Amino acid sequence: MARTRKSLFADGDFAGRVAFITGAASGIGNGLARVLAGRGARLAIADVREDAIEYAAHELRQTGAEVEPFVVDVADRSAMTACAASVAERFGAVHLVINNAGIAQVGTPMDQIDEQTYRWMFDVNVHGVTNGMTAFAPLLRSNGAGGGHIVNVSSIAGLFLVPQWHIGLYSATKMAVIPLSLGMRLALSPSNIGVSVVCPGRIWSELRNNSAALSPGGGALVSNLPDDIDENVMTAAHAAEIILHGVVNDRAFILTHPEHAKDVADYHKLVTDEFEYWTSALSDIPEEAEGAQS
Ligand SMILES: NC(=O)c1ccc[n+]([C@@H]2O[C@H](COP(=O)([O-])OP(=O)(O)OC[C@H]3O[C@@H](n4cnc5c(N)ncnc54)[C@H](O)[C@@H]3O)[C@@H](O)[C@H]2O)c1
Repeated sequence: MARTRKSLFADGDFAGRVAFITGAASGIGNGLARVLAGRGARLAIADVREDAIEYAAHELRQTGAEVEPFVVDVADRSAMTACAASVAERFGAVHLVINNAGIAQVGTPMDQIDEQTYRWMFDVNVHGVTNGMTAFAPLLRSNGAGGGHIVNVSSIAGLFLVPQWHIGLYSATKMAVIPLSLGMRLALSPSNIGVSVVCPGRIWSELRNNSAALSPGGGALVSNLPDDIDENVMTAAHAAEIILHGVVNDRAFILTHPEHAKDVADYHKLVTDEFEYWTSALSDIPEEAEGAQS
C-alpha cells in the first residue's frame, strides 16, 4: 500500500531548520530570507552579486539570524554542486531549497532578440532551477525519512502568455519550470521530499534593474510595459508568507494572485478551440491523396 507522505514542514516549524535560497540578495528571495530568519531558520543565502549577498547577510545577522552568504551563478552546474557541498559542510544538513534566482526579458519582439539573450534566459531561469534541484536533492535525501522540501520560482507568466506583450521568451522559460517541478515532485516523493512551484503575479523587486545589470549584452531588458504595471503590487514579505504557507501545506502549486485564474482559462481556451477546429477539419482531409503511391 502506498505510504502517505508526512511533509517535514507539516508542523509549520522552521526553527533550527536549514534553508538554502538562491537570488536572496534582493526581491522575493530576500523577502523569504527575512521571513525565515524571523521564524528561526538557519540560512544559506546565495546570489551571483557578491557585494549584494554579503550585505544581505550582514543585515540578516543584525536580526540575530544565523546566516552564511554564498556567491554562485545558478546557471553553472559544477559551481552549484560545489556550493551544495559547502552548504553541507557549513550547516551539516539542508531541509528547504528555494530555487528563486531569475532574470526577465520583456518588450522586445522575439525576432529581434539576440542569440546570447535566448541562451542566457534559459541558462539562468531553466537550467538554474534544474541545477539547484539536482545539486541539492542528494542532501535532502540524506535526511533519511525526514526528507525536506524544494521550492522553484516560476511566474504567472508560466501559466499563460500575456496577450499583446512581447513576453514569449520569459514565458517559455517560466513554463518550463512547471513540468520540471511536477516531474521532480513525482521522482522525490518516495524520499519524502516535496516540490512546489510558485507562480507569482507582480511582486515588488529589483528584477528590471538587476536583469539589465546582469545581462551579457548590457542594457535594459524590460521595456514597453503597460502604464499600470506598478499598481497593486504585492510586497516581497507578503509573497514570502504565501510561499511558506504553500511549503507547510505541501502544495504542488503556490499561487499568489488568484485573480489571474480567468487569464489562464482564456489561454487554455486557445488550445481547446483549436482542437474543435481540427476535429472538424480532419474529417475533410483524406488520409491519402487520390492516386498517391503508398
Ligand atoms: N517580481 C515579480 O513581479 C515576479 C513575478 C513573477 C516571477 N518572478 C520571479 O521571481 C524570482 C525572483 O525575482 P525578483 O522579482 O525577486 O527579482 P530580483 O532581481 O529582485 O531578485 C533576483 C535575484 O536573483 C539574482 N540572480 C540573477 N541571476 C542570477 C544567477 N545567474 N545566479 C545567481 N543569482 C542570480 C539577482 O542578483 C537578484 O538578487 C525570479 O525567478 C523572477 O523571474 C518575479
